[in-house]
Order: sequence, then structure tokens, then C-alpha cells
Amino acid sequence: MTQKKISINADRLWTDLMALAAIGADANGGVTRIALSDADQDAHEFLMARMRDAGLRVDVDDAFNVIGTLPAKKPESGQKALIGSHLDTVPNGGKFDGALGVLCALECARTIRENNIELPWDLEVISFCDEEGGHHAGTVGSRAMTGALDPEEILRPGPDGRPSFAENLERAGGDPTRIHNAARPASDIAFFLEVHIEQGRNLESQRADIGVVTAIAGIQRTEVIVAGEAAHAGTTPMKLRKDALVAAAPLFTLLPKWASSRNSEMTATIGRLQLSPGAVNVVPGECRFTVELRSRNAGDMQALQNLLDRHAARQSNWRLQPLYRKDPVRLSTPLQDRVTLAALREGLAARNLPSGAGHDAASFAPHVPTGMIFVPCRGGVSHHPDEAIEQRHAAAGCQVLLRTLMILSGEGGRLDPA
Ligand code: GLV
Ligand code: MN
Ligand code: MN
Repeated sequence: MTQKKISINADRLWTDLMALAAIGADANGGVTRIALSDADQDAHEFLMARMRDAGLRVDVDDAFNVIGTLPAKKPESGQKALIGSHLDTVPNGGKFDGALGVLCALECARTIRENNIELPWDLEVISFCDEEGGHHAGTVGSRAMTGALDPEEILRPGPDGRPSFAENLERAGGDPTRIHNAARPASDIAFFLEVHIEQGRNLESQRADIGVVTAIAGIQRTEVIVAGEAAHAGTTPMKLRKDALVAAAPLFTLLPKWASSRNSEMTATIGRLQLSPGAVNVVPGECRFTVELRSRNAGDMQALQNLLDRHAARQSNWRLQPLYRKDPVRLSTPLQDRVTLAALREGLAARNLPSGAGHDAASFAPHVPTGMIFVPCRGGVSHHPDEAIEQRHAAAGCQVLLRTLMILSGEGGRLDPA
């Protein structure tokens, strides 16, 4: 039986994207919606209203994930198909990172309901809480849902001593002691699919419309604390100083060299640095910075971590504090095949590619069949106010998500575990 071709409403999707971008908008064109902030909560109110208008049942779980459900008419498997992404942003981030995936999921559910299509699973449109690491490590809501969140983690203070996830969850009306209730058994979930901007330049340079994501890089973060001795900047002779920044400095150039000589896809970043006491006329007494390593190869990530550990051990007064580690993951091959087929049927050019950025999909991949659909973004720019996509690419990603759901539904909704 041939399936009737159904189409998402590209104008409605774009209108939603622009309306959402106004929530937490910055003067320079960027967006700031740190997880659990007022702007983030406003974005979730916006989403919940749109979900209700679309006829979805709306729930907020104990990790503050927002879930809009389109129930199956005749549930065959008792399983749920999960689609979505996140609405929080980095400070002064872009309009599309995360937002595109949530609104594509909503638009698919809306289109399916309007066309009276029966699915073999309950379809859940989800916006996951704190993907970006506004408090500590990020992907909090999706890891809570897969049961992989350490409850201690949410108690750690946010950057620069700001409140922890637990404190902000409580402020937003949640109960951090109940976060474990957000966990779901993997057997309840048929699959997870996420649309996202590529945040790189591969699709644009290859003139492709759709990226079929094969793997997501692992992440390892460490805080380095170098102790020196604070002293008067005008009266302490150079040879008598114990300047913590000067002691730390050689690593700042060594680290990128280690990464690029190990593997061309590997990245190493010192993204946050603090000097204490932090005054123009005081020799730094302490230098504290984060080292973030990313790779699709767990062995390479460990090798670089070993170099960092050995470098620190050779210095005096260096302390390393492990912050976070997430292994690289491969995405489901059967889902990659369905996404490729969906793009082909839509007449779109698709390419396989890995993701260097982290995603909620990485939380699901070890537990349930997981896939990602990328669309190009201009110049690969992301986590920046200039993040931009073309309307036709937003529509293409959404339409491929819909087609993939239709293909899976037509096959009875069950996937091989591979
Ligand atoms: C999130 O976007 C990340 O890759 O850190
Ligand atoms: Mn994202
Ligand atoms: Mn991001």
C-alpha cells in the first residue's frame, strides 16, 4: 500500500521559531535562556501553550522535561516514540541550537494529528531540561530520563559559585529530591530521534540538505587549580614571584598541539579561566581553569587526559579536579538507514557525518535506538548570536523527521536493536 504524502507546514514552523527567538532575546541578535532561568521558563510556557493548541497532552516530569504526548489510537507495542531537543541556550547563543529540534518535533506531531494518521506508539514531543550545562555538566533532563544522572551532580554549584541545578529547580517550583522519578525503563522507548543544526561546515561545503548522524563525540572535563602566591605587582621583583598564571601558561599552548597531533577530529579547549584575587596590581595567587577534551575515539580522549595528568604531576602546587566524562557514542544504524531513505524519498541530498557537539541524543544512544538529523547552518556558526539557517533547511529537517516516522510506522514501529 502506498502512503499518502503528507507535508509539514513550513511557514508555521518558521513563525514558531521566530516567536521563540524573541524569548530571552539579547540586544545583539543573540538569545540567552539559561536552563531554569525566567527566560527558559517563559520559553517552556510558550511551548506548552503551542502543545495544547496542537491537541497534545502536556506533562512536566520531575527533571523539568516538558513532554507533549500524542497518544496512539491503537497502541500495539505499548512503547513510546520520543522526538525533541532542548530550549535552553548558552549565554548569548543563537536562535536555532535546540529550538529547531523541539519545534520540528512539535510540527510533526501537529501534522500527524491534523492528517489523522495512526501511529503504533504514543508520540512524545520533548524539550529536555538543561542540555547546555547552564549549571554543571549539561544534558541533565535527558540523562535523568535514561536513569544515568548521578543525583549528587545536581547539588554542585553552577559556574562562578552561582546556584546549583537543585537550587534553581526548587526556585522554579520543582523538587530536586524527586528527580530520579524522571527515569524511564529503556523497554518503554521504541526510539529517540532529534533534529539539530549541524554547528559545523560539512553540510554547507558539500551542498547537502540533510546530515545523517553516525556518532557523537565523547566529552571529558577537568578543572585545573594552580596555586601560586599573591603579591604586590609593583614591589615584588620578578625573580621572587610565584605567579600562578605564569606557571599555568605553557599548558595553554601545549594542549592544542597535543590534540592536533593526536587526531585531526579531536578538540581540546580551555574555556573558562579565573585568576585570584583578580586585580590589576596583584600577582595572581591562584589560576583556575577548565580543560575540555572531545573525541569520537575514547582511547584518544584518555591518551590526552593522561598527558594532562602527567604534566600536572610534574608541576608543584597543581591540583586536578575531574568534572565530567561522557563516552563517545555511535547512533543506531537501522535509524540512519531510515533517515537516509526518508531524505531520498523527499528528494533531498543527504550525507553521513559525525557530531563534535554534545546532544541529548548522546544520553539515549547507549540505551535505546537513537538517531539524529542535521541541517546546515550558515558558516557552521553556533553558540553565537550570528547562528543562522535557511527556512528551507528547517523545513527539510522537519519533513525528513516526519518521513522517518512514517517509514518506521509503516514497518510496524519496531526496530532491530543494532
Ligand atoms: C552543547 O551544545 C555542547 O556541545 O557542549
Ligand atoms: Mn543543542
Ligand atoms: Mn549547544
